[in-house]
Amino acid sequence: MPGAPTGLVATAGNTSVNLAFVAPSTGAISSYTASCAPTGAGAVLSATGSASPLTMSGLTNGTLYTCTVSASSTGGTSTASTSATVIPSAVAGALTLNLTSLSNYAAPTLPAYYDATVTALDNTPPANVVNNKTATLGRVLFYDKNLSFNNTVSCASCHQAAAGFSDPARFSTGFSGSAFTTAHSMRLGNIRYYRPGSMFWDKRTASVELQASQPIQNAIEMGFDATHGSIAALLPKLQVIGYYQELFTFAFGDANVTEARIQNALAQFERSMVSVNSAWDTGFASVFNPALTDQGRSLPVPGLTAQEDRGRALFMGGPGVGVGCAACHVPPTFSLAANSLSNGLDAGETRIFKSPSLKSVGVSGAFMHDGRFSTLDQVVDFYNNGVQAGPALDPRLTAPSGAPRVLNLSVADKAALVAFLRALTDTTLATDTKFLTPFKP
Ligand code: HEC
Ligand code: HEC
Repeated sequence: MPGAPTGLVATAGNTSVNLAFVAPSTGAISSYTASCAPTGAGAVLSATGSASPLTMSGLTNGTLYTCTVSASSTGGTSTASTSATVIPSAVAGALTLNLTSLSNYAAPTLPAYYDATVTALDNTPPANVVNNKTATLGRVLFYDKNLSFNNTVSCASCHQAAAGFSDPARFSTGFSGSAFTTAHSMRLGNIRYYRPGSMFWDKRTASVELQASQPIQNAIEMGFDATHGSIAALLPKLQVIGYYQELFTFAFGDANVTEARIQNALAQFERSMVSVNSAWDTGFASVFNPALTDQGRSLPVPGLTAQEDRGRALFMGGPGVGVGCAACHVPPTFSLAANSLSNGLDAGETRIFKSPSLKSVGVSGAFMHDGRFSTLDQVVDFYNNGVQAGPALDPRLTAPSGAPRVLNLSVADKAALVAFLRALTDTTLATDTKFLTPFKP
């Protein structure tokens, strides 16, 4: 008689279970036999093999099974000393998610300086408050290439974590592989703190929810445009995918895939991308003082280099002290102030663009709505002496004469501003697994 296998671990897959075990140290094993019995009624399945692991197929998703493994030799059979219970599922087959222990999206730990004045900027609608189940579904949708017409791009193709959830390229490659967007992709950290809630550079979409299905239907981005059946063609495509049947049921109570549910789930995932880490955040946390009028923003920030802190003083300070960047790119979120007008990129500009939060702007490879600048030095040069006159130019960028403001910064001060912008890089947001792909390789 051989010894019994030990340490049986059952891992759920899509209608399957992977059974890993430790071979007994004694006895010449000729084969292993596994069996999985469903709780309650149903057929007991079995499989055989000559080594660990064994894969058992043909199970019913969502049903609890108890599995055992036994070893056989010419001398006889010994049953495994351990059995394991497992629920096979399509989620377990395709994704790394553990639905019994979800990541925390609903209640991120916010620093003290994310106080009532900051939370007042939150554009979350009462009907779509972030919960962990729906945000988890949003994470899957965000990384799923099935959302594009030919399964080539996901949201994450153009919103890459390492680039601050933007695209390092000036323009992004769409689903066709040969057509490009005409605007630069936008970073997604802190989109929830842009109070008007309107999305895209030109603010053409009213909310994060309404924005979420736009790229899907865009003729260049994901391709479900009118000629490809529009979003009505995407819904049945997702409806038959097993992990969506499970995840829509998990999040919404039934498996029905609708545009509104896709919008809500994506919006919840995106709003949970709160950026509260960077060299500036760490230092500011120690000088933040709610009793001060400016909450301590004019104080030196520990941990920044002398050059970064000089840049901080310029960025934060108003007339006579600094160059007033913070009046529009408002700390601590660095999302744009609701009342910002044009920053005067082009002479005669009548349009008013928004900016994504400047958190992680230092890891971007292109700047402004059309990605016209490829370095932060060019951005600072622009604010120094390149602002153009036009009907939409913001008064904060206008001199008392009415002409565009010229800063006449020294070379050292321009470099300091760039160094400060780089001190806003959030490596925690970029590497937190809850914001990375949930798909198995
Ligand atoms: C092919 C590249 C591409 C894909 C795919 C893509 N995006 Fe974008 N995204 C962009 C570009 C480019 C912009 C800016 C477009 C503009 O303003 O005209 C943008 C803008 C956004 C914005 C606006 C941010 C703000 O602050 O206003 C959000 C939110 C967003 N995308 C989310 C998504 C989601 C969710 C998906 C998947 C459903 C997605 N994107 C797919 C390229 C892409
Ligand atoms: C009047 C408000 C306002 C002020 C003041 C202002 N900005 Fe901006 N900023 C904007 C707007 C609006 C945009 C987006 C413009 C566009 O792309 O069309 C922007 C874009 C940017 C970007 C590019 C963001 C990206 O994702 O591509 C950077 C970097 C930036 N500003 C830095 C600064 C710095 C540094 C200062 C101070 C010298 C400053 N800004 C002052 C309104 C302002």
